[in-house]
Amino acid sequence: MSQPIRILGISGSLRRASYNRAALRAAMRLVPEGVTLDIFELDGIPGFNQDQEGNPPARVVELKERIRQADAILIVTPEYNYSVPGVLKNAIDWASRPYGDSAWDGKPVAIMGASVGTIGTARAQYHLRQIFVFLNMFPINQPEVMIGNAHERFDAQGDLTDETTKNFIRQLLQNLVDWTQRLRHS
Ligand SMILES: Cc1cc2nc3c(=O)[nH]c(=O)nc-3n(C[C@H](O)[C@H](O)[C@H](O)COP(=O)(O)O)c2cc1C
Repeated sequence: MSQPIRILGISGSLRRASYNRAALRAAMRLVPEGVTLDIFELDGIPGFNQDQEGNPPARVVELKERIRQADAILIVTPEYNYSVPGVLKNAIDWASRPYGDSAWDGKPVAIMGASVGTIGTARAQYHLRQIFVFLNMFPINQPEVMIGNAHERFDAQGDLTDETTKNFIRQLLQNLVDWTQRLRHS
């Protein structure tokens, strides 16, 4: 029997009623059987300062440990000004340093994102894919889960109600698990 897969989920929004945090909660209920999805909250991570990269703040040490313990990463992010939100990029930068000690190296990763606009974070997602090249992460190509008009797909309690979106998330998670198993055996 193959070993269980542990996914670490990270939201690029800190907002309490965030659609992206809601989508991450929905993903926790849609993981394949035997797979765990735990969340790391980006709250409390200070702005990156290279003077501290050799002796980083405790939250960054914790983030790097959690990434290393995970078999795969799920990033769920809004798009800010056509790109990746600063809090997410900041966390990515911290965990990539010091040079040669990146926690991201070789990790399988899936992306999804929710926006109140119609394009559903496409531009932020493609910027993330560019970042993954340098980080040597291995992203899932499809499905591209871009949740546009998010205000129509979640209820007032922040529960995902749209069945089509649920099916896309289910497929993305299944593909992430399959991909992680393939990389494990390569
Ligand atoms: C600083 C800022 C920039 C934004 N830029 C974009 C954008 O480029 N594209 C987009 O679709 N939505 C943009 N939005 C709107 C977000 O889609 C919307 O606020 C969304 O709810 C954020 O995700 P959240 O609910 O997970 O916090 C922006 C919002 C903020 C606060």
